[in-house]
Amino acid sequence: HILILDFGSQVTQLIARRVREAGVYCEIVPFNAAQDILDQFDPKGIILSGGPASVTWDDAPRAPDRVFDMGVPVLGICYGQQTMVQQLGGAVQPSDHQEFGRAFIDLVADCRLFEGMWQAGSREQVWMSHGDRVEALPDNFSVVATSEGAPFAAIADDERGFYGVQFHPEVVHTPHGAQLIRNFVHDVCGCQADWSMAAFRDAKIAEIRAQVGDGKVICGLSGGVDSSVVAVLLHEAIGDQLTCVFVDTGLLRMNEAQQVVELFRGHYNIPLIHRDASELFMGELAGVTDPEQKRKIIGGLFIDVFQEEAGKIGDAQFLAQGTLYPDVIESVSFSGGPSVTIKSHHNVGGLPEKMNLKLVEPLRELFKDEVRNLGRELGLPDAFVDRHPFPGPGLAIRIPGAVSTEAADILRKADAIYLEEIRNAGLYDSIWQAFAVLLPVKTVGVMGDARTYDHVLALRAVTSVDGMTADSYPFDHGFLSRVATRIINEVRGINRVVYDVTSKPPGTIEWE
Ligand code: XMP
Repeated sequence: HILILDFGSQVTQLIARRVREAGVYCEIVPFNAAQDILDQFDPKGIILSGGPASVTWDDAPRAPDRVFDMGVPVLGICYGQQTMVQQLGGAVQPSDHQEFGRAFIDLVADCRLFEGMWQAGSREQVWMSHGDRVEALPDNFSVVATSEGAPFAAIADDERGFYGVQFHPEVVHTPHGAQLIRNFVHDVCGCQADWSMAAFRDAKIAEIRAQVGDGKVICGLSGGVDSSVVAVLLHEAIGDQLTCVFVDTGLLRMNEAQQVVELFRGHYNIPLIHRDASELFMGELAGVTDPEQKRKIIGGLFIDVFQEEAGKIGDAQFLAQGTLYPDVIESVSFSGGPSVTIKSHHNVGGLPEKMNLKLVEPLRELFKDEVRNLGRELGLPDAFVDRHPFPGPGLAIRIPGAVSTEAADILRKADAIYLEEIRNAGLYDSIWQAFAVLLPVKTVGVMGDARTYDHVLALRAVTSVDGMTADSYPFDHGFLSRVATRIINEVRGINRVVYDVTSKPPGTIEWE
């Protein structure tokens, strides 16, 4: 088992994910809670994450000193490298040469960490993100790689199995990064590849049973993959102690409500309450244009409706949610660091204090594709598991500005045509997420001999591995024209279609 000490990096979970991909169990603990964990958990290796702080600060976060006295290998990444160096007697200085993004390192010596991937003398691409840099090494360390901005881009003490890298091996932009982490956990730490999604499922089922006891749980189904996986997992764990509540917000895609009800009531026989609350949602959203405000209203109403339904079931104490790791990291600001709130995803940020149900969130540490694997492990059909993600606030965040039933109806029709064309072209599974956005902008057009003055529809399609970064999908022009023609001909209210070619960052996947 591997222990990851979190210093607040936005990508700490990616380290965990790479360790899991290497078939090894791991846990993440905040650096300041690590002392206790070290007493209970006997790790075979420790990874120190990156983080927003600077070791040159007075109150800079540190790893418990014991980490370096336990006789187990340690890998320090970015901030983790810097604190390791400082705690072991080396020196770190702020640097005027900051490196962000793609960089190259020159391998100057071999070490166990790079075995089978990098040799001395070669130049390799990595992803850097740092301001400070190591200036002097602790005893027994030597330099194994340099870069323009960091003369100590990678350092090693092969004897103790201590390694430090200034770059981020956990992100996909470091091409051999996954192998570096595999080398660390297998070869340096000696862990076996015996972790699997089946083991994760069993562990979560045990955890859910322990948390819930004989209590009752309600689970909000959204129609998306995440909440569906949560529902099926909970059903497997606690059977009919679970009741699902499906709130139809009026902001769902075409035919979605019907499909959810069929799958859960019909196929799984999970107790399901289907509540049509579209009028309530549309009423509260009328005239509201601010994206965060819209999210808060929707999140709040969701909880209200849940509470009402929970009341009808009687004595439910828990609410299960399909919160994923990217929702957590983008909503939580790390105390003491500049990690910022990008969007208050409604699963997390919109929860009002008044809610008196305890949360069950078994997917909190997973990324989307891991959730899909878990879904398959639980026997959900591929066609369902491979559906594109759909955000909790639904079509409301795909109608910039004020939302109305009329706008939602127009968007639903256009979105359905777009997705039908994507499926027909055999592209659905190569795309992470595709959807239409109805803009609050009207433009002039001509149809037949008449002037039109109607809405612009934007099409969005992105590829992504985890939703944290994304690229616009490179459709061929013929495909886009075909979709545009169909939508303008078949959907009243739209007379112009545009394609969004923005990547994330700097854009986000959704428009709000
Ligand atoms: P962004 O737009 O932040 O989206 O690049 C990243 C992923 O998260 C989804 N998303 C949400 N999911 N509640 C959710 O449950 C939300 O408020 C929300 N906002 C965005 C988005 O669809 C994409 O998959």
